[in-house]
Amino acid sequence: MSLYASTSLISPPLQSIRLKTPLKLGIMASGYGSNFEAIAQAIDTHQLNAEIRGVIYNNPEAKVKTKAQHWGVKSLLLDHRKYSSRQALEQEIIEVFKAEQVEWIIMAGWMRIVTEVLLTSYPDRILNIHPSLLPSFKGLHAVDLALAAKVKITGCTVHLASLEVDSGAIIMQAAVPILADDTVESLHIRIQQQEHKILPEAIALAAQIYS
Ligand code: GRF
Repeated sequence: MSLYASTSLISPPLQSIRLKTPLKLGIMASGYGSNFEAIAQAIDTHQLNAEIRGVIYNNPEAKVKTKAQHWGVKSLLLDHRKYSSRQALEQEIIEVFKAEQVEWIIMAGWMRIVTEVLLTSYPDRILNIHPSLLPSFKGLHAVDLALAAKVKITGCTVHLASLEVDSGAIIMQAAVPILADDTVESLHIRIQQQEHKILPEAIALAAQIYS
C-alpha cells in the first residue's frame, strides 16, 4: 500500500519518488531513535535511495546510539553541555558532517534549538520532524498540548528547519485522530507510527523540491 492510500496523509498525491543518486544523510537525534530507525529501514527496503553517513547525538544515554550500532551506522556523541555555546556545538557538527560529505541533515528527535550557524551551512537542507500538525502546538510537549486543547485531530509534520522553532516550510504532514480515552503516551505512540511513515517519504520529496 502506498503512503497516499493512507487516509491520514495530508499531502498532494505522491508517486513513490525515485531519486537517481543516493542522498547522503546526517542524522541528529537526542533520544530513542525510532525515527532514525524508520529511515534506516526505508533505505534497507529500497523505499528511500539514501545512505546514512553518520548519527550525531547529544545525550550520553540516548538509545539512538545502540540503534545506530545495530544498523552499522557510525555515531558520535557531541554532548551540548561541553560546549560554550550552541554555535560552538554546531561548528563541530558541521565539521563532522562535511567530512562525511553529508548533503541533508535530518533532525530526528533533536531536542535543541538550532542557530544561523547550522542553518547557513546547510541552507534548505535541514529537515525536522515535530509531533503536531504545525503551525499548531509548536515547541516542547506538543502531544500534551494537543490533548489538553481537546482538539479532535492532531498529527505530525516534517518541515525545513528555520531560525524560528518549528516554523519552516512544511514538506509533509499526517493526521492522527485523538480518541476519547487517549493518554499522552497512547497518542504519542500513534503519532510516531505516522512519523515513521512520512519521514522517509518527506526526505525524498524535499530532495526533489529543493535540490
Ligand atoms: C518524535 O516524536 C519527534 O516528533 C520529536 O521527538 C520524538 C523523537 O522520537 N521531535 P525518536 O527518538 O525518533 O523515537
